[in-house]
Amino acid sequence: MRSDEITAAAAGTWTLGDLTVNRMGFGSMRLTANPNRELAITVLRRAVELGVNHIDTAAFYFSPGGILDVGSGQTRYATELIRDALTPYPSDLVITTKVGPGFADDGTFSMASTEAQLRAQVQENLRRLRRDHLDVVNLRIVKRPVPDSIAERFGALVKMRDEGLIRHLGLSNVRVDHLDEAQQIAPVVCVQNGYAIDTNRGDDGLLKICGERGVAFVPFFAIAGPQREAGPAESHSDPVQEIARARGVTPQQVRLAWTLHQGRHVLAIPGTGNPAHLAENIAAGALSLSPTELAQLA
Ligand SMILES: NC(=O)c1ccc[n+]([C@@H]2O[C@H](COP(=O)([O-])OP(=O)(O)OC[C@H]3O[C@@H](n4cnc5c(N)ncnc54)[C@H](OP(=O)(O)O)[C@@H]3O)[C@@H](O)[C@H]2O)c1
Repeated sequence: MRSDEITAAAAGTWTLGDLTVNRMGFGSMRLTANPNRELAITVLRRAVELGVNHIDTAAFYFSPGGILDVGSGQTRYATELIRDALTPYPSDLVITTKVGPGFADDGTFSMASTEAQLRAQVQENLRRLRRDHLDVVNLRIVKRPVPDSIAERFGALVKMRDEGLIRHLGLSNVRVDHLDEAQQIAPVVCVQNGYAIDTNRGDDGLLKICGERGVAFVPFFAIAGPQREAGPAESHSDPVQEIARARGVTPQQVRLAWTLHQGRHVLAIPGTGNPAHLAENIAAGALSLSPTELAQLA
């Protein structure tokens, strides 16, 4: 099968609460960094054509001023690109967003901590996406200084869930004790942490616990790894390169395939503004790694 004929269904599905998604999804953070708005729209539509039904976003993904400020002079919000590209939304599309971090239009960073601040962020997501409810909202915390308790903020989101503004809740950038605390309050459908074959492997335990509890583990920076916001990993370990060469795929595809092999509950949300990379990433969902290859990568 040609790689551009492989769909996001190739890696199977997972259920977030009552919402079934293909394990291969799409991350929208990078879309606002490209001054070419039409290209971003094309990538989003192509992603859906290729079977993507899980898109990750945030109201604070915008340029200039937000998370990837390229100073284009024209404000673009990932949430609005998603709306403009995909409305009327396909009935099976699950949009996951996050609240916590916020940027003023001039790029000043702040962290929402009160119910009123979190509510304003939920409402901003609703408005920009033009939805009457949000499918999944992750409470995103910062690790430094790491808060001991997330109960108050998570409780505020539970209230909004009970009001019908949010369907399901998740957490982002958290430790096991944060997950424990939140699960005492309400169901958690996903944990979204930075994690890759060569990054944050201290979260191996958290990933396993999520699997045991039926919570999706959704790594960000699976391709970028230690380069984080700066872009794709510059170098790859010898096993990644050897397997890529032997299988006729790219090192980025091996990184994504490795991610999906960490458990049925692990979902991928690779981010790209490049249609060719999009097709490659989705094709990585069909790349089955043998036990020998997984041992090499370990
Ligand atoms: N919860 C959080 O705190 C948090 C933090 C960061 C990100 N996220 C979410 O996670 C998603 C994924 O993170 P990310 O987009 O930053 O990183 P990523 O998916 O690990 O990597 C994206 C980078 O790799 C490049 N790339 C993608 N596919 C490629 C391919 N096939 N070949 C070569 N290069 C490729 C992209 O550039 P091109 O555009 O040139 O392809 C981009 O620079 C984000 O979009 C966002 O939705 C969440």
